[in-house]
Amino acid sequence: MKQLRLAPSILTADFGDLRAQIRSVHDYVDWFHLDVMDGHYVPNITFGPSIVEAIHGATDKPLHVHLMIEEPGRYAGAFADAGATRISFHPEVTDDAAKVVEGIASTGAGVGIAVHPDVPVSVVEDHLADIEVVLMMTVRPGFGGQKFLPEVLPKIREAAEVLESAGRSADIDLEVDGGVNLATVEHAVAAGGQILVAGSAVFDGKDAASAARRLRGRLDELQKGRV
Ligand code: DX5
Ligand code: ZN
Repeated sequence: MKQLRLAPSILTADFGDLRAQIRSVHDYVDWFHLDVMDGHYVPNITFGPSIVEAIHGATDKPLHVHLMIEEPGRYAGAFADAGATRISFHPEVTDDAAKVVEGIASTGAGVGIAVHPDVPVSVVEDHLADIEVVLMMTVRPGFGGQKFLPEVLPKIREAAEVLESAGRSADIDLEVDGGVNLATVEHAVAAGGQILVAGSAVFDGKDAASAARRLRGRLDELQKGRV
């Protein structure tokens, strides 16, 4: 089993105290997950490259920018310049996903395909040679704090099988994004999730450090097979 990694989403963090929020969970996390929304692909607007740059200045952890926007190819360079380590996009926003994959790769950032709950896993099949992460969404994109969708679990298993049969499971991370918490994380891992995104389960407005520490502890237990 690959190392299980924790990637808090700052979507529900206190943006008035972002540096402190990021530092408070630093010891327990492997990535930060940055949810970019444009108000078109999803009915919500979050932040752009300038916030990514600020976060890049507040941590040395790798940053996974999740583009929930209509023109990912147009803005990928700006997010890469701002410090994105990986950039994922939703292929249904374009009629030429291969071109967007190539465009993101040309920025030097790692490429990810984000799979909406209503979109089939097959959308990743043409890009397996060029991507390094498949981001399986277990909520409908747009907002943090939603309930985990268990009906996506078979799709995560299917994605793991697609990577396995293509001989790409060593090179491509399988990431689960949405509604992940102490109760749902074991199901996400059992289905094949390797990087677990958690927004409201970490930045819950109370004690992010303790929440991150507990989730990290749970991942360590799951890693040892002690579910
Ligand atoms: C939703 C975002 C997710 C997620 C994070 O559009 O892509 O990253 O909702 O927040 P929680 O963990 O609260 O669902
Ligand atoms: Zn996300």
